[in-house]
Amino acid sequence: MLLVLALFTSLLLLPLVLPGQPQLVKSMPGFLDEDSTCHCVVHLPNNLIPLQQLEKLQSTAQELVDKYAQKLSKVSEYACMTEKQNNQVREMTHKLQSSSSSALSSSYEDLAFNLLYLELEKAQQLVTQLKAKGEVHRSAPLLDQLQGQVANASFTLKLLGDSDQRRFGALLQEVDVLESQLRECERHREQELASSYSGPPLLPGSCAHRGLQKVSRPLVVQLNWRGFSHKAGAWGRDSAPNLNSSYYWVAPLSTDGRYFDFYRLYKSYNDLVLLKNYKEWKIGYGDGSGNTVYKNFMYFNYYGTGDVAKVDLSSNALVLRRPLPGATYNNRFSYAGVPWKDIDFSGDEKGLWVLYATEESKGNLVVSRLNASTLEVEKTWRTNQYKPALSGAFMACGVLYALRSLSTRQEEIFYAFDTTTGQERRLSILLDKMLEKLQGINYCPSDHKLYVYNDGYLITYDLTFLTLKYRLPRPSAKTPFEMRVPLKSVKPSKS
Ligand SMILES: *[C@@H]1O[C@H](CO)[C@@H](O)[C@H](O)[C@H]1NC(C)=O
Ligand SMILES: *[C@@H]1O[C@H](CO)[C@@H](O)[C@H](O)[C@H]1NC(C)=O
Ligand SMILES: *[C@@H]1O[C@H](CO)[C@@H](O)[C@H](O)[C@H]1NC(C)=O
Repeated sequence: MLLVLALFTSLLLLPLVLPGQPQLVKSMPGFLDEDSTCHCVVHLPNNLIPLQQLEKLQSTAQELVDKYAQKLSKVSEYACMTEKQNNQVREMTHKLQSSSSSALSSSYEDLAFNLLYLELEKAQQLVTQLKAKGEVHRSAPLLDQLQGQVANASFTLKLLGDSDQRRFGALLQEVDVLESQLRECERHREQELASSYSGPPLLPGSCAHRGLQKVSRPLVVQLNWRGFSHKAGAWGRDSAPNLNSSYYWVAPLSTDGRYFDFYRLYKSYNDLVLLKNYKEWKIGYGDGSGNTVYKNFMYFNYYGTGDVAKVDLSSNALVLRRPLPGATYNNRFSYAGVPWKDIDFSGDEKGLWVLYATEESKGNLVVSRLNASTLEVEKTWRTNQYKPALSGAFMACGVLYALRSLSTRQEEIFYAFDTTTGQERRLSILLDKMLEKLQGINYCPSDHKLYVYNDGYLITYDLTFLTLKYRLPRPSAKTPFEMRVPLKSVKPSKS
């Protein structure tokens, strides 16, 4: 304000110091004070500047200064207001983020919420813009408009943050808890029903059932014949549905956990248990523990290649070897915790299958049915399960069952893919295990057993299937999101 006054004064003075009229102004020498400020005194002759006029000019100046100060205070008022808005929005964001971090992540599908979230971001940008505009008071109308928008957005968010979102999050958690209780209840009920029901046993090789229901506790048969250091391998029984001769085969890999070099054939279970009357063959070119036996031939991944091969069990002669189109190999997409099992054979009531991954599938498991005599791919199905995330898989009646490891002592069959219908579903069938890793998993249709090579131990599980006559409640739903919906289906439907 002083500056302004000084400016006006100097303007007034200017015409007074024109050259040629020096006598009008009497100059005195200036002086410096203690603060080194220069002072000089100018004496103006009274008659030249009417005092009245000067006063008027001074009051005009004062008026202008006042107006300026008024505008300035308005600007800072705006700035203050926008700051407040900004804080409010920030607070809202924070609230929203913290309240939604749990619920939102699990319900990302909520489109409406995401839209509002975007709106918040927009509001924030506007507030920033607003602040910048606030410095230039010319843009007051724009300022007002922007403020309105921010207020609207904040209001929306406030509503959301205060009620919906929190209630929604709490609801979701409640639903999750209820759902897991429900699933546990269903599991118990199914087990009860299954144990109380004594229908005709499933005939060997029969698919007259509605899919896998449960798995028994493991039966430990023995340590593999090569010893504890051969932790990786596979074993089983010929997986042709109706067998005349049913060899038990045991194939512990070499101690490197990769090289499939020897296998034994036992004519009967007793021979296996007593380790007698066996044939021992050297194979020398197998890779990993994905091999299986189907109709008296052993099928396996040829070492270091994407080839599939078969040997005749009666002579151990390699009868065929050919590439499996697109299959990745050399431990590219093996199972979790079970290396070198890129190409995994499985036999069941419906034929010979191979489970693998391709670059095109981005590591997701694909299932192909093979012509067992030519090893040509007859048909391929794609699943959405990333193979390296699974601990293993097997086929039964044309349905792929995938496992994952829950802990060192428990596995879960969590996913099924039916090649007949092309449909997939979630399930939860738990398997206890003796040791941590299930290397070879082979299903035998003749006795409905799983033959599992568990860190060097040969173990079996009895599989129970859902019977056609007595309809049990379907194991719970399909996708995690769909799972939320059918809360109504608490009561199993009997028909
Ligand atoms: C604020 O919301 C109201 C009602 O939805 C709307 O009519 C108005 O135009 C909005 N104001 C601004 C500045 O967006
Ligand atoms: C089983 O053996 C019987 C009698 O030897 C024979 O007729 C039949 O074809 C055999 N079945 C298979 C699947 O080999
Ligand atoms: C396997 O392929 C051979 C030769 O193409 C064919 O004759 C045979 O019928 C096929 N087997 C099956 C089960 O389709």
